[in-house]
Amino acid sequence: MPDAIYRFPEGFLWGTATSSHQVEGGNTNNNWFAWENEPGRIVNGQKSGLACDWWGGRWKEDLQNAADDGQNSHRLSIEWSRIQPAPDRWDDEALEYYRQIIKGLLSLGLKPMVTLHHFTDPLWLYERGGWEDDQSPEYFAAYVRKVVGALSDLVDLWVTINEPAVYVTGGYIEGNFPPGKSDLGAAFKVMRNLLKGHAAAYRIIHELQPHAQAGYAKNYRGFEPARNWFLPDIWMANFQSASFNDAFSNALLNGRLRFALKSELVSEAIGTQDFVGVNYYTLDRVIFKPFAFKDIFSRRFFPKDAELSETGFIADLPRGMTAALKWAHKFKLPIYITENGVEDSTDSMRPSYTVRHLHEIWRVANFNWNIKGYFHWSQVDNFEWERAWTQRFGLWGLDVESQQRIRRPSVDMYAAICRENAISS
Ligand code: NOJ
Repeated sequence: MPDAIYRFPEGFLWGTATSSHQVEGGNTNNNWFAWENEPGRIVNGQKSGLACDWWGGRWKEDLQNAADDGQNSHRLSIEWSRIQPAPDRWDDEALEYYRQIIKGLLSLGLKPMVTLHHFTDPLWLYERGGWEDDQSPEYFAAYVRKVVGALSDLVDLWVTINEPAVYVTGGYIEGNFPPGKSDLGAAFKVMRNLLKGHAAAYRIIHELQPHAQAGYAKNYRGFEPARNWFLPDIWMANFQSASFNDAFSNALLNGRLRFALKSELVSEAIGTQDFVGVNYYTLDRVIFKPFAFKDIFSRRFFPKDAELSETGFIADLPRGMTAALKWAHKFKLPIYITENGVEDSTDSMRPSYTVRHLHEIWRVANFNWNIKGYFHWSQVDNFEWERAWTQRFGLWGLDVESQQRIRRPSVDMYAAICRENAISS
C-alpha cells in the first residue's frame, strides 16, 4: 500500500511528446538533413536516418503502446518540408498521411496536441536564409493556413512554435544547430521573425477555428545565482533568465521584444496565446564572468550535489519545475507541461526524476493553478538533434538497427500514474 496518493485534477491530459524529424525518418528535405550531412556537426557523425520509422508506419506501434499504457493524449509535430516541399508546391498526400496518424490517435482515445514548427525548416527556406529572411513569417503563415485548414476537424489544440529561444540560441549564438552562427544581430532578427510567425499562426488558427486553443512551447530554464549573496551573480542570473525565459513571452504581453541587447515593438504579438506551454528539464547556476560575452546566453554549471543524467546533460532539480510553473502562472492562463523527461538508457534515474517532477506539478495544482496536462519526453528513444542517438529519452528504448521497441521499467511506472491520475509514495 502506498503511504500517500496525490491526485491530479479531473480531465488532466497524460501523454508523451514527439517531433516529426526526431521520429519520422526519411526527412531529406529540411535543414537538419543538410546539417547532419556536414562533417563534424553531429556527435559521432550519426544521422537521423529512419529515426523511429513513423513515416514507414511504426507510429502505429508506438501510439498503440501509449494508449495501452493508460495515456489519453499525444503531442506530435507536422514536418513543414513534407507539406510544402518547394515554395510553390503543396503535398496533399503527406497531409493525408498526417490525417491518418491523427485519426489513429483519436481512435485510440489519444487527444492530439499538434506542433506546427519543431526546430526544422524546409530546405528551400534554409537556402533563402531561414528565419533571417523577413518574408519567413509570411511563408510560415501560408503553411499554417494549409495545415490548420486540413486538420481542423481533428485537432483543436495547437502549439505554434517549439522552443523559439532554443532554436535561436542553438542556431545563432552557440552554433550547435543549423546554420551554426554566432551572431547576435541575426539572433535578434530570427527571434523577431519567429515571434511574428507565431502571432500570424495564432490569428490564422482562430480565424479558421474560433474555439481552438493555441500557444507555444517555452523551454523554461532555471537560472540561479551561484553565490546568492553576490550581486553580480544575482544580476547575471536575472539577465540570463530575462533573455532566455522572458523575451518571447513578455512580447506576447506587451508587444516589446527585448533580446540579444536589442529591443523592438512587435505589437501584433500581444495576446496571442491561450495557454502557456512549458518544457522543463533542468536548471543552471550562474556565475558572473566579466568579458565572457558569448557565455551570456549559454549554460553554466550544475550544483555539485545534483544527480546528473547519463551524459551530464540534465540535473535532477525539481525545484526548477516549481520555478517554471510560478513563471507560467503569472500569465493567468491554463498551463500545459508540454515536455519533461531525462536521457537515461539504463532507466535508473527516469522513474524517480519523473515522480519528483510530477510531485511539484501536483503541489501547484493544489493551489488551484490551472495545470491541464503533462507530456513526458518521450514515448520512445528518438533522434536527439546534435547529440543524436547518444541520448535516450524514451519510456521505451529503441534498437535503431532492428527498429525493435524495448520496454523499460518506466513504461509501467508512467502507465500506473496515467491510469490512476495520481502519483503515490
Ligand atoms: C526539447 C526539444 O523540444 C526536444 O526536441 C528535445 O528532444 C528535448 N528537449 C530533449 O532534449
